[in-house]
Amino acid sequence: MCGIVGYTGKQQATPILLDGLSRLEYRGYDSSGIAVGSGNGIEVVKAKGRLAELYKRTGDRPEGTVGIGHTRWATHGAPDDANAHPHYSQDRTFAVVHNGIIENYLELRAFLSERGFTFLSETDTEIVPMLLEYYYNGNMLETIIKTRNKLKGSYALGILHAGDGGAFYALRKDSPLVIGLGEGENFIASDMPAVLTHTRRFIIPDEKEIAVITPNGVTVYNRNQEEIEKEIFVSDMSAADAEKDGFAHFMLKEIYEQPGAVKKTIHDRITPDGIRLDRVRLNGAEIDKVCIAACGSAYHAGEVGKYFIEKYARLPVETDLASEFRYRDPILSKNCLTVIVSQSGETADSLAALREAKRRGSRVLAIVNVVDSSIAREADDVLYTRAGPEIAVATTKGYTTQLAVLYLLGLQLAKDRGTVSDREYDALLGALKTLPEQLNRFIDDVNAQAQYLAGKYYPASDAYFIGRGCDWSAALEGALKLKEISYIHAEAYAAGELKHGTISLIEKNSLVLGIATQNDLREKTLSNIKEVRSRGAAVIGISDNPASIAAECDDVIALPETHAALTPVFTAAALQLFAYYVAAARGGDIDKPRNLAKSVTVE
Ligand code: M6R
Repeated sequence: MCGIVGYTGKQQATPILLDGLSRLEYRGYDSSGIAVGSGNGIEVVKAKGRLAELYKRTGDRPEGTVGIGHTRWATHGAPDDANAHPHYSQDRTFAVVHNGIIENYLELRAFLSERGFTFLSETDTEIVPMLLEYYYNGNMLETIIKTRNKLKGSYALGILHAGDGGAFYALRKDSPLVIGLGEGENFIASDMPAVLTHTRRFIIPDEKEIAVITPNGVTVYNRNQEEIEKEIFVSDMSAADAEKDGFAHFMLKEIYEQPGAVKKTIHDRITPDGIRLDRVRLNGAEIDKVCIAACGSAYHAGEVGKYFIEKYARLPVETDLASEFRYRDPILSKNCLTVIVSQSGETADSLAALREAKRRGSRVLAIVNVVDSSIAREADDVLYTRAGPEIAVATTKGYTTQLAVLYLLGLQLAKDRGTVSDREYDALLGALKTLPEQLNRFIDDVNAQAQYLAGKYYPASDAYFIGRGCDWSAALEGALKLKEISYIHAEAYAAGELKHGTISLIEKNSLVLGIATQNDLREKTLSNIKEVRSRGAAVIGISDNPASIAAECDDVIALPETHAALTPVFTAAALQLFAYYVAAARGGDIDKPRNLAKSVTVE
């Protein structure tokens, strides 16, 4: 989704803004632009397409030491120069960058048109600089408040006003924004990695607070216009965390980072006395239902969690796509634990699901990667996944660390409820402890095979991922990985469901990936593999018992021996690598696939 940076200090703003924007590229965008302020007013430069286009247009200009920049992911209006941000006010005394959606923009556009304002873009954003111009009375705080009070929807805004020297302004509601604190210079950004080369000290503004940012300080005002003290958050991320480190792509680097990320996620949470879930207030015995709501891969992690929690904690688990959750009138109570899973912690639908769950009296536990993100802050409890910054749009370590936390959560619930035997509990904890090391070896081993299989199957036009139980959940994630980066049409089906319609699509050389890791379901899945193979499909089998399926498959990926419940972690790693090499063979933009955004901050 859209990315924002802002700078004020002694240096030229343009190169700093462009560098910040390049670090936000991973969020997904289709145009970009900057606005720089100087004694001559505000100059805006923007360009459709990749940042390289903006670099061409800027050269060394505009000159000035204060500015704002933006990468736009089109929602209202095509991705072209006119709709790219920043947007000027009519008299060009204001320039604004925006992430989010102003829901009442048509009404506000009509209001402003009646008062003589002419719009140059189709965006919802352009009403903001126009409103600022309309309300301007010489006092910027009052002007911003009047404008803010008109806006409905979500926004993170960076505002530049001509003649305000080195000052610029920022505010947010339901969209992410951080303020970076330097020495004699200060920043804003959609997320921390954009400015980590300059500072690790951040202020995170709360909803509707207004920040006035100058080279020498940041002043934050609350909703009542009172100046407030904000806590300073020191990030433990380093700029190097957001570099490729010699890997061809962030996605490959992040696949390889998984063992370390999983280790960091679980190591101090498994103690000699059992599981310790940070400061989470959890009593499994008092919970009568778990609802998991999330989007995309995080939802797929929730699906694995459902099988695990139901099996070991004997609690009913409902899983919802967060975009559906609040519209289905869910039945929640104080004894229901709602779990929101999100790597970014900023996904608009997941945040909305969280608020809906709280509104209905449910306790909310968030499983989140980005520290102090909106979801982390609004949940009653948080378990961080500690994956470190994930730059590639296609999640890898974000997903597997979510699985790790869901396993810990499920086991703790099971322990509280007395539904797991000591033997099983110890076996699972033991398997979890060795998981990082096993995963490390597995990724090293399977890499070459994934490359070989990608070379063989990359021309496929469709792929079907099938499995039963948690293998079906793993299939959902495998199919998403393949389609999002290789653009091959890929679907996941519960293996037993294929013959109820989808099998009609299977023909000679259709690619099927059959996952069979669960002893009690293996024979059934094998029958389904036979059904597609007898209709001409080429089958890649994935199993921890490869001999049991080899005869019915063209190729087999052997998973290591582990506890059956943990196989989705290994399946994920194998399918991530397969998707990665297929996409590489087809020549896609692996880290920034078309049309996608890393952090989906609009509904
Ligand atoms: O940041 P979140 O985990 O809330 O994001 C949810 C989905 O947008 C995300 O998992 C998406 O499906 C992945 N990037 C796909 O690889």
